[in-house]
Amino acid sequence: MIRTINISIPYKEFDTIKELGSSDRELLLSAMETAKNAYAPYSRFKVGAAVRLESGKIVSGTNVENAAYPSGICAERTALSGASSNYPGDKPEAIAVAAIAEQELSQEPVSPCGNCRQAIAEEEKRNGKNIRIILGSKNKIRVIERGSDLLPLQFSRNDLPVTPH
Ligand code: THU
Repeated sequence: MIRTINISIPYKEFDTIKELGSSDRELLLSAMETAKNAYAPYSRFKVGAAVRLESGKIVSGTNVENAAYPSGICAERTALSGASSNYPGDKPEAIAVAAIAEQELSQEPVSPCGNCRQAIAEEEKRNGKNIRIILGSKNKIRVIERGSDLLPLQFSRNDLPVTPH
């Protein structure tokens, strides 16, 4: 018996940052500002991410590249790791991402890479809380309500034989 299953992903698009709620707007502005601090001499693609925690605290991060290319890290994981390291127990509820290419905000939203989707999904599972993803750009803003929507059929702790503690 063969089954064909289709997966569809719900997300919203906004024309301008003004259409976002005030806390998401603040988060995206923080990601845009942080992108300026990126260390991206190899790609010249500066990415900023800002995580809002349950307490309202915002933790931001950038991509940090390396001459040994795979040793670099994306903005999303820098921000999430910073939040987890400095505010343990304060659960992430949203992450905003913005990129600067050629000195300007990107024309289109930049989506988290596969590694970052996996890291976002782990945080959701770990905390039992969805993380809203807000992707900013010049032309539009894309909002995905939960990280797991960006990673269908994900590998997770549920697949491992050991119970994490
Ligand atoms: N990058 C991020 O930081 N986040 C993304 O969502 C996409 C890609 C970084 C990795 C690398 O430093 C540069 O952008 C080009 O891929």
